[in-house]
Amino acid sequence: MSAPLTPKRRRNRNRGIAIVVLTALVVLAFVYLFFFLGRGGSEAVGSSLTDGAVASGETAASADGPAASSLASADSGKSGAASDAGDDAADPEPAYPSYYDPALAARYDAFAQARPDLTEDEVWWMVGCDLDKAPYTDTQAVPDPNSELLLVNKHYYLPDDYVPADLVTIGATQLRQEAAEHLQAMIDAAAAEGLNLWAQSGYRGYGVQVSLYNQYSAADGAEAADTYSARPGYSEHQTGLTCDMNTITDAFGDTAEGRWVAAHAHEYGYIVRYTPENSDVTLYKYEPWHLRYIGTEAAARMHDEGIASFEEYWVKYVK
Ligand code: DAL
Ligand code: ZN
Repeated sequence: MSAPLTPKRRRNRNRGIAIVVLTALVVLAFVYLFFFLGRGGSEAVGSSLTDGAVASGETAASADGPAASSLASADSGKSGAASDAGDDAADPEPAYPSYYDPALAARYDAFAQARPDLTEDEVWWMVGCDLDKAPYTDTQAVPDPNSELLLVNKHYYLPDDYVPADLVTIGATQLRQEAAEHLQAMIDAAAAEGLNLWAQSGYRGYGVQVSLYNQYSAADGAEAADTYSARPGYSEHQTGLTCDMNTITDAFGDTAEGRWVAAHAHEYGYIVRYTPENSDVTLYKYEPWHLRYIGTEAAARMHDEGIASFEEYWVKYVK
């Protein structure tokens, strides 16, 4: 048995225990500081960020708050960029319209340089119907002469022997049946308003156009004739979908009938084909009397969308 401790020895022993405990606490504190706030701190903060629980460790939160928030914002910036990149990948390229043809890119560039006055869209649809080429140069046969939406102009021609199969008589001329029916409806509607419209010259065969063009170019020269008369094969009159109304004079546009036609033709599927607004496209002078049947849907759409030429409509909605 050991001897009972004197008060002094008890105090010494307690002091020794206290020193050992304090030393141990100090050592533990250093170990803690070294591993958790020093080397291991960022991992702890990182995992806190990952968990979205930075505030759970007060010291870590206050020490790393700014870093944490900048990390967080960097992350969200990154994830924003990533999600933008994702959106970019999901979204199509900056909206090219359906009539943009990558195979024509070199011609678009050349035409845009030659015609800086044009918008990008004008370049696309004009090149889309060969308007970057000189008239009557490198021309093409129309793919389907019987289509009611066929384009005939100084770049697209009908075969010499094309004669529509469904010509019917209207007035003193002929048109394809559907065009004739719609023209008659227009003539009747104008008559109901006291106006006198009549069909003067509808279908003209290839041979008739040969005579007309030769006559005009002999009188005025080919250059002038080309501004008001189509060369054989290149006249819309051969389609059976076109009709000259009333008198073939510029004055027709200023008559009550001429104004009515300009305002109402689209209701019957017709357009005034050569206007002051599209003469740089058609390369014909204004012909307020020359109506072309394209069907009520197309005519209404051209009217509603303010499309000035059938060339533009054809590239955008038919080709
Ligand atoms: N007058 C039009 C352009 C034609 O000859 O067809
Ligand atoms: Zn005509």
